Amino acid sequence: MDVAQLERVSYSYRNSPAIADVSLHIKESEVIYLIGENGAGKSTLLLILAALFVPTSGIARIFGKVITEKSTKDIGLRRRIGIVFQDPDVQLFSPTVYDDVSFAPRHLTTGDYKLYTEKAMETMKISHLRQRHPYELSEGEKKRVAIATVLSYDPEFILFDEPTANMDGRGRREFKSLLKKLIDEGKTIVIATHLLRDIVYATRIIGMYKGKIDYDGDPYVLKNKKYLEKLNIL
Ligand SMILES: Nc1ncnc2c1ncn2[C@@H]1O[C@H](COP(=O)(O)OP(=O)(O)OP(=O)(O)O)[C@@H](O)[C@H]1O
Ligand SMILES: [Mg+2]
Repeated sequence: MDVAQLERVSYSYRNSPAIADVSLHIKESEVIYLIGENGAGKSTLLLILAALFVPTSGIARIFGKVITEKSTKDIGLRRRIGIVFQDPDVQLFSPTVYDDVSFAPRHLTTGDYKLYTEKAMETMKISHLRQRHPYELSEGEKKRVAIATVLSYDPEFILFDEPTANMDGRGRREFKSLLKKLIDEGKTIVIATHLLRDIVYATRIIGMYKGKIDYDGDPYVLKNKKYLEKLNIL
């Protein structure tokens, strides 16, 4: 079964269209990068794929479920999907890092939430920040915490919005190893990025241009300078 099926999906913020007529199928274990200039619609598309936004028109099916206002709150669906938002301040809302990372395991998993929490903090190397207030962290640290809040409940479909944007060299290398691990576990992954050098392990590239899918296919396109210039990411 497909992880995601979008059929002619459009999404408008109030009256301003952000993505239009997007059709897309995503299969299990694909590693897809979304590329495109600022405002192209990458984040909006990720929010649709995360089953958080209901299309203004068209149909989005995630794990076979048609996305409606009701299904955005379906716990069975929520626990299968993880999204790391572009802005970590949207993701982090608790008084401490520990509370943020343990939030999803407390609500979405059946096992011992403490074990899940410790494991995610260890993976993202943030255990020493556990008692800190998330808003008092550096941007790179916040991003690590945001990623940990998603790893903590082990979802099968993971969406990353500009995951390495504020990371230093070591952070970016560690993110790359994390990706390798997630891929080895068979996760389905979609990553929006502007940073060409951070594109690794891609099985498929989707180029967005003015709210539409402009390219969908082989990563070979990353060698096409003319095309990358069109998307404004060179
Ligand atoms: N909350 C919002 N309210 C109104 N319009 C929005 C909102 N968020 C995004 N938009 C508009 O929707 C369009 C697509 O934005 P989106 O954030 O999806 O692009 P993006 O490709 O992720 O850009 P970036 O590379 O800057 O992150 C843009 O025209 C943007 O101005
Ligand atoms: Mg964005």
